[in-house]
Amino acid sequence: MKTDNDKQTKTKQEETKKKEILTELQNFHKKDISFSSGKILSSMCTKPLKIVEEARKIFKETNLGDKRISEGAIEIEKICIRWVGDLLNLNQPYGFITSGGTESNILAIMEARARKREAMKESGEKEMMPEEIIVPETAHFSFDKISFLMDIKIKKASADKNFCVDLNSVKNLINKNTIAVVGVAGTTEYGSIDDIEGLAQICMANKIYLHVDAAFGGFVIPFIRKLNYNVRNFDFGIEGVDSIALDPHKMGMNIIPSGMILFGKEPKFSVNVSYLQGKHERLLGTFPAASAAGCYACLKFLGEDGYIKIVKECMENTKELAEGLKGLGIEILNPTMNILNFNIRKEIYNKLVETGWIISKTSKGYARIVIMPHTKRTHIKKFLNDIKQLMKNAKN
Ligand SMILES: Cc1ncc(COP(=O)(O)O)c(C=O)c1O
Repeated sequence: MKTDNDKQTKTKQEETKKKEILTELQNFHKKDISFSSGKILSSMCTKPLKIVEEARKIFKETNLGDKRISEGAIEIEKICIRWVGDLLNLNQPYGFITSGGTESNILAIMEARARKREAMKESGEKEMMPEEIIVPETAHFSFDKISFLMDIKIKKASADKNFCVDLNSVKNLINKNTIAVVGVAGTTEYGSIDDIEGLAQICMANKIYLHVDAAFGGFVIPFIRKLNYNVRNFDFGIEGVDSIALDPHKMGMNIIPSGMILFGKEPKFSVNVSYLQGKHERLLGTFPAASAAGCYACLKFLGEDGYIKIVKECMENTKELAEGLKGLGIEILNPTMNILNFNIRKEIYNKLVETGWIISKTSKGYARIVIMPHTKRTHIKKFLNDIKQLMKNAKN
């Protein structure tokens, strides 16, 4: 029989243990670089909205992957998909909240395969091997993973001088084994936007699935277009677009992990799971409903106007940095969105990294900066100042 004293001692021990563990975790966390430090200039993630912290807690134990017990969470997901469907010109959207761009891109190619195989079955055609996808050479590396994972041949179409896919190159790569073409709206390295209208024409003429990877651009392009920036459209208003990926955990201001995939019509891919009493259409079996709750909170709290305000500030800050760099005599590439590339001497780039700036380089050797909502004018000023100083030192 346990006495009250025993119980008290146990509670005390547990409290001490909890404190120790939390202190350990805080110490690990201190090693991470925070967004608020201003040092992170090339991440596509950012500090989530404050309300998300509360929203995620409400759903901390809900599994979005189990329809039997997550009716409320699934309703939230549907509302988010509808909201984004409206944003992307789609009347009747289908789709899911995912863990991010990689998962959404996987689901898109799985869907392309499912549709192609069904069409071939219906027409009595033999299964083709190996299936192929065409992606721009600027596409995210998730497509290389997809190629390996799904045993699909990946063909890379060349890009023009503005880092947008060359339509002739795409045309030349198409053959009877092509199951999907991918266009990118907001490339990871340059923020360039492919000619989705041109790709859609090609895909419709060849009856090929068209997926648009707007993991980054999805929460930027619709808003900068509303701000009258002259950038290409990429959404479902373009006939022939079959699916779009976009990430709430990038410019959507939500917690990690959260992506989204939207389909223009009901997806064909699913597996039957008798013990879950129905179809399972997701990639992941278990998925945090907390991500959906965070997404709902962001969309509702910010609304279109809130997103426009955030994106406007990022674009203005990008311009501020671009002007500052030009003022230092540095060659920049004109930015399409809040990603800025410039040419900087290797020694100076390396010194910037040494002094703690988190910046990156593209495959073509340009410095790459992503101006996210956590990057403020003061950080930009400090960064420009550091470059100025390093250039001065290099001269002496
Ligand atoms: C265009 C694009 N697609 C896909 C991804 C992959 O997204 P995630 O890292 O969320 O899987 C990224 C990430 O940077 C991206 O920029």
